[in-house]
Amino acid sequence: MKILLAGGAGYIGSHTAVALLEAGHQVVVLDNYDNSSPEAIHRVEELTGKKVSLYEGDATDHKRVLDLMQREQPDCVIHFAGLKAVGESIEQPLRYYRNNIDTTLTLLESMAETGCKKIVFSSSATVYGAENAAPCHELMPKGSCTNPYGWTKSMMEQILQDAAVADKDLSVVLLRYFNPIGAHESGRIGENPRGIPNNLMPYVTQVAVGKREKLTVFGGDYDTPDGTCLRDYIHVMDLAEGHVKAVEFGANHTGVDIINLGTGQPYSVLDIVHTFQEVNGIKVNYEIGPRRSGDLPVVYADASKAQKVLGWQAKRTLADMCRDSWNWQKNNPDGYE
Ligand code: NAD
Ligand code: UD1
Repeated sequence: MKILLAGGAGYIGSHTAVALLEAGHQVVVLDNYDNSSPEAIHRVEELTGKKVSLYEGDATDHKRVLDLMQREQPDCVIHFAGLKAVGESIEQPLRYYRNNIDTTLTLLESMAETGCKKIVFSSSATVYGAENAAPCHELMPKGSCTNPYGWTKSMMEQILQDAAVADKDLSVVLLRYFNPIGAHESGRIGENPRGIPNNLMPYVTQVAVGKREKLTVFGGDYDTPDGTCLRDYIHVMDLAEGHVKAVEFGANHTGVDIINLGTGQPYSVLDIVHTFQEVNGIKVNYEIGPRRSGDLPVVYADASKAQKVLGWQAKRTLADMCRDSWNWQKNNPDGYE
């Protein structure tokens, strides 16, 4: 199949491109490089020995997207193109709503105009909100989000579901990611955050490489075994392989499927720090600080639906995730620059 990856030069998109090419699919990428670099795609080509059709452009630009879709005629779109920094979304809500909702509408309209009927969407565990106790199951009603980023995901899920009600030939797979970390085993592609990382693993690797002095663990007094929050960390290559399965599943289905992509195994912040230190033989300075507002104590997936419906299960360990994150960071201390 030929797959259009909107936002495909980013962290998850570039890893998914590798997995799709290795599975024998063709890959087209559209990205405005707002949070990425074309170098990621050059490295995808180098790793796989295969060519990617790469387009610079904005997924909110209807003419651009339509021209590209008419020319490439993809069988399926994977919609990664979005802004994702939670704190920034609180400061700049309109920018987040504009970009994230508009990319979704523009992609859906261009698909309708060109007869493309398959879309896989990057959603997030954040849509379960605080109301649902872990493990999060796809049948749970969505909860309320604590920030505009989360609301954009919740709203985009609704838009995609409504589109599938109106067009019975449409296939929509909503993938709810838990906490993707790690990098391709080669260390050639990985996560490349701009500025101070918001997420745990990039912060840990930047402390380890000497770019930041120490990690602040957000809260040590939660009602969890070691007092720090529990999350469902998933290796980005497992996540990428989940997308290959989702695309192949969508090819033979219509309607909406919501699928968690997680491991089902929670780990604490201190588990991450300790495993990272052990696996890589490098010290990570940290201190326990105050809680971060909006953080939930325990979030992890019920991962059984992905196994049942997609025949997919995460297989890499926390040690793999820590080793590969560090391998990427130490070989690319300044990312793709
Ligand atoms: P990323 O920022 O690395 O990738 C997103 C890509 O989209 C970037 O390359 C960016 O330049 C591009 N982009 C943004 N707006 C665009 C636009 N208008 N037109 C064209 N390109 C545009 O982020 P990621 O971690 O790879 O995440 C991919 C998707 O998965 C995002 O939608 C994100 O919200 C979602 N997600 C990520 C996580 C995570 O922890 N990384 C968790 C849950 C969901
Ligand atoms: C965050 C977002 C979520 C988003 C996800 C992936 C919030 C409230 N939630 O989830 O919407 O989908 O990222 O992008 O921001 N931690 C530290 N110190 C740090 C950084 C993190 O202790 O410097 C802790 C956090 O408290 C949390 C865990 O590490 O317990 C993971 O944090 P993070 O990587 O930001 O992911 P989430 O908070 O799960």
